[in-house]
Amino acid sequence: MGKHLMFGGVDVVELAERFGTPLYVTDEQRLRENFRRFKNAFSSVDSEIYYAVKANGNLAVLRILAQEGAGADVFSGGELYLARLAGIPASKILFNGNSKSDEELELAVLSGVCVSVDSFDELYALSEIAKRLGRDVEIAFRVNPDISPETHPKIATGLRESKFGIPYEEVLDAYKEAKQLEIEGGIRVCGIHCHIGSQILDVSVFKEATEKMMALVESLNEHGIELEFVDLGGGLGIPYKKDEPAPTPEDLAAQILPAFKGAKLKRRPKLILEPGRYIVGNTTILITRVNAVKRAAKHFVAVDAGFNLLIRPVLYDAYHEVAVANKIDEPPAGTYTIVGPICESGDILAKDRRLPKVERGDIIAIFDAGAYGFAMSSQYNGRPRCAEILVNNGEAEVIRRRETYDDLLKNQVVPPRLL
Ligand code: LLP
Repeated sequence: MGKHLMFGGVDVVELAERFGTPLYVTDEQRLRENFRRFKNAFSSVDSEIYYAVKANGNLAVLRILAQEGAGADVFSGGELYLARLAGIPASKILFNGNSKSDEELELAVLSGVCVSVDSFDELYALSEIAKRLGRDVEIAFRVNPDISPETHPKIATGLRESKFGIPYEEVLDAYKEAKQLEIEGGIRVCGIHCHIGSQILDVSVFKEATEKMMALVESLNEHGIELEFVDLGGGLGIPYKKDEPAPTPEDLAAQILPAFKGAKLKRRPKLILEPGRYIVGNTTILITRVNAVKRAAKHFVAVDAGFNLLIRPVLYDAYHEVAVANKIDEPPAGTYTIVGPICESGDILAKDRRLPKVERGDIIAIFDAGAYGFAMSSQYNGRPRCAEILVNNGEAEVIRRRETYDDLLKNQVVPPRLL
């Protein structure tokens, strides 16, 4: 019998037997280490780390990060709800988003979180809502800094043509307008925000982004507008492939901090960063069982997880390392393409991988699935979502129960006339 893959001190094959497959498994220690490392890298300035909840919104994950002192970047009312439930204080939450509904703006005002305003339309709506509710709301503007990081076009967000943020050259006007509204009460101008993109491995673009943002902060200062924080977003990439560069939080800090500290300001604002992927990406594997091996145009391995559970390979041509968890010490014996059970030919998780001889019943581990993995899952093809497990020094706990067929029915209504 082959040797087994261990993860967080736990035998992965035993986890598959005990909890069934497919299964997301998250290592608590690695999560805590990632957060601490990121936080420490910026500790030479007054700073906060606002974890990007969209990357992985599991409540246990959020709870652990809340214990570590994380704030949160939330992108919807639902993410705000989760972050608050996990115990992240409202004073450390930024409500982001380019299309917030009245209900979401109301929720933001009533929760007392800061709002990153994405358009003039939103500014006026928020100001009205805050006045109607008799509350003050702190705001930042999301700036489109017109920067092109080297990443997949679908996840570059700071490009000129991106849908996010106020165009760079209109930002000063936006602040002047907000300052006018401040006089009427409701709005309180607090910070400035950008996010240039995700999975960025060449961190030098962060220097350019910081310089552009600090130039704005300086020019706002000259117009008598002082800000309490500068939020430079997330985006630090992780090495999905073994030979890919692995920029560290210290490398990121080396790009950001000189420009941040060097700005000529009366008072230095707080620095906020919003990492998602770096914090959770490598904390989690997806384990999946082989249902069939078939020689056709390719040597296919059909497993029980597909793009219903991990959509990144299909959506972004993303690469995730894979291994046969029950044959971890066996040498490669073939080139396999791992496909899911979804009724679409694009349902491919990993192409042309050298692996030990794969057979029905084997357990495949898909690595670095903690960011935008479960978070982007669906019930497509009538497949209930899988369970999530937390491992910590050799112990395993369920942090999300496996869905059942009943969950497919949830909230569905058949009108009585059709019965
Ligand atoms: N802040 C804002 C405003 C964001 O939009 C994002 C990610 C982050 C922070 C966190 O970025 P990170 O540190 O994780 O790169 N689903 C895609 C990634 C989409 C990222 C969306 N925004 C993927 O699977 O690669």
